Amino acid sequence: HPLDDFAHGLPKAELHIHIEGSLEPELIFALGQRNQIELPYPDVESLRAAYAFTNLQSFLDIYYAGASVLITEQDFFDMAWAYFLRAKADNVIHAELFFDPQTHTERGIGFDTVINGLTRACQQAREQLGIRAELIMCFLRHLSEEEAFETLEQAKPHLGKFIGIGLDSSEVGHPPEKFARVFAEARKLGLRVVAHAGEEGPPEYIWSALDVLKVERIDHGVQSLKDQKLVERLVKERIPLTVCPLSNIKLCVFPDLGQHNLKQMLDLGIVATVNSDDPAYFGGYMNQNFHQPRAALDLDREHLKQLAANSFEASFATPEEKRAYG
Ligand code: ADE
Ligand code: ZN
Repeated sequence: HPLDDFAHGLPKAELHIHIEGSLEPELIFALGQRNQIELPYPDVESLRAAYAFTNLQSFLDIYYAGASVLITEQDFFDMAWAYFLRAKADNVIHAELFFDPQTHTERGIGFDTVINGLTRACQQAREQLGIRAELIMCFLRHLSEEEAFETLEQAKPHLGKFIGIGLDSSEVGHPPEKFARVFAEARKLGLRVVAHAGEEGPPEYIWSALDVLKVERIDHGVQSLKDQKLVERLVKERIPLTVCPLSNIKLCVFPDLGQHNLKQMLDLGIVATVNSDDPAYFGGYMNQNFHQPRAALDLDREHLKQLAANSFEASFATPEEKRAYG
C-alpha cells in the first residue's frame, strides 16, 4: 500500500521497546548454546509456538524465561545490536530503550555487565548507524519498593549511562503509589521519569502515575479513554502515550486491531505514539506497528505524519536534537 511506503520512509523515534523483548528465538538458542544453558524447548519452532498469550502475565512468564540466556556483557551487546539493525531498517533515528536490570541481577548477573554491554551497543548505533540511542532503567513492579531502592543504589555509579527510569511488569495489583519514594529520589538525581500505566490496569493508575510519580509520559495508557476527565488532561498538558498496537492485540487488551483506540486518540488530539514494546514476541518491529493499524483502522497520511511528529515531541531528545530532527 502506498501509505505503508510513506510510513516506512518517515524518520521515527521509538520510545517503548524493552530490549529483552527484542530477543528473537534464534538468538535465545544461540546464546543458550554459547552459555551452555538448557532451555525447556527442544528447538526454535517449539519456542515460537509457545508465544500464544492470553494476558500480560502469560507473556511475562515466557519473557523472563527467555532472558535467562543473557550472561555476559557481550550477550547484552549482541541483543541490543540486533535490535538496532532492525530499527535502522525501519527508519528509526532515535530510540529510547527500556532495560530490566532486576531480571538479571536476581540471577546473579552484575549490574555493570548489563549496563556496560547495552551502553556499548548504544554508542556503536550512534557511530555506525546514525541512531541516537538512550537507555531507560525500569523497576519491576511485582518486586518490592526495597528491591527498587537497591537497584537505584546499584545504578548510581552509572548515572551518565541512562537518562531515566520506568516501571514495568505485572500491572494489576501493583499501583504506581508503591514506588512513590523511589521515583522521588530518582527525580532528585535529575533522571527523566515514565511508567507503564493503563495497559491492563484502570485509569486510576494513570492518574497516580502522573500525580504521585510525576511521570512525563505514560507507557501504553490505552485505558485512558474510559475516563473523560483524564483525556482532557492528557490533551491539555500534552502528556504523551507510548502506544504499542501489536502488543495490545497479542496480550488480548483489544480483541483485534480494528477495535484498537489509536485512531480515536489521534482524533481527540492526544499525543499518541506508536512503538513495538517486545517485537520478538509480538510479531513486528516499528514499521509493522504502523502498517497493521494503518490497514485495520484506515489511518490516513495525516495520522501517520502526526504519529511520527508525536514520536519526536514525546522523546527525551534535547531541544537542539529535536530541531535537527526537523
Ligand atoms: N515488560 C515487557 N513488556 C511489558 C509490557 N507490555 N507491560 C509490562 N511490562 C512489560
Ligand atoms: Zn512495555
